[in-house]
Amino acid sequence: MYTQAIDIPQGGKEEAPRGPRSLQDGEYEAEFDARVARGEFVEPKDWMPEAYRKTLVRQISQHAHSEIVGMLPEGNWITRAPSLKRKAILLAKVQDEGGHGMYLYAAAETLGVSRDELIEALHSGKAKYSSIFNYPTLSWADIGVIGWLVDGAAIMNQIPLCRCSYGPYARAMIRICKEESFHQRQGYDLLLTMMKGTVEQRELVQDAVNRWWWPALMMFGPHDSASTHSGDSSKWGIKRISNDDLRQKFVDATVPQAKVLGVTLPDPMLSWNEARGHWDFGPIDWQEFWNVVAGHGQCNRDRLADRVQAWEDGAWVREAALAHAQKQRHRDRLAA
Ligand SMILES: [Fe+2]
Ligand SMILES: [Fe+2]
Repeated sequence: MYTQAIDIPQGGKEEAPRGPRSLQDGEYEAEFDARVARGEFVEPKDWMPEAYRKTLVRQISQHAHSEIVGMLPEGNWITRAPSLKRKAILLAKVQDEGGHGMYLYAAAETLGVSRDELIEALHSGKAKYSSIFNYPTLSWADIGVIGWLVDGAAIMNQIPLCRCSYGPYARAMIRICKEESFHQRQGYDLLLTMMKGTVEQRELVQDAVNRWWWPALMMFGPHDSASTHSGDSSKWGIKRISNDDLRQKFVDATVPQAKVLGVTLPDPMLSWNEARGHWDFGPIDWQEFWNVVAGHGQCNRDRLADRVQAWEDGAWVREAALAHAQKQRHRDRLAA
């Protein structure tokens, strides 16, 4: 998972982006803008404007945090998966999300920020992660709906990032998107199976859809008119399609899938607009979105506490790996 919506301001005061500092910087900046306009990739050692670097560090690290925190609501169901097949699929999916986090932390590190700094920003609450993971997973149907809607929204957000201007981020996104597509399909397959089951199973699916539909729409971030970072991100080739356009694409793709599944989407204003050639949908409760972003969602505290606990529990592994590397270096020096 899980982007765009997570390119939102961090907590605390951010430094204002610096403009060109000298005539030379101005020349570099003109060359940089021209390269991005030509559709070329920017690579780690290339000159880049400080504000571009900062935007990428914020976006890639929020994305990485979202992958890692996103393991929690689903990991919660691994022991309760209803069959060995479903358990194996869910294990693989949660492991994929961990892998996505690792590629993305590595991509962020190429911008001159350390893994420890990034983790510290998450644990202190300064860095954000996608708000969708602050909702609880109440039944097995939630696992299917997360795959279908949450990973589905993530794919919509992330496919344009495969063409983003920063090379390491774009390359990481290619593999991530392939895996997300598997995540989406396993969720939909799980739901199709449940919908062929008992009345109770069908009710669980409908209930999960009712709870996840609006938060999934919020994953695309604020309306274009209220999106703080969109202007620069578009100019720099980081963001290719606006939040509202992506949200519309998602709604248009999902409504027919809901019909095949046999569920209703919880929006009485959902209707086909012949003139626009798109589905119209009702207003989003942005107050709820900002409330969850501000840390007051149902699971914000649990999620952060679980991450901090996992970090502390893993301290001995990091220490052992460092000690091993040191011993190795020592042996290599003696051998040389
Ligand atoms: Fe992912
Ligand atoms: Fe995923």
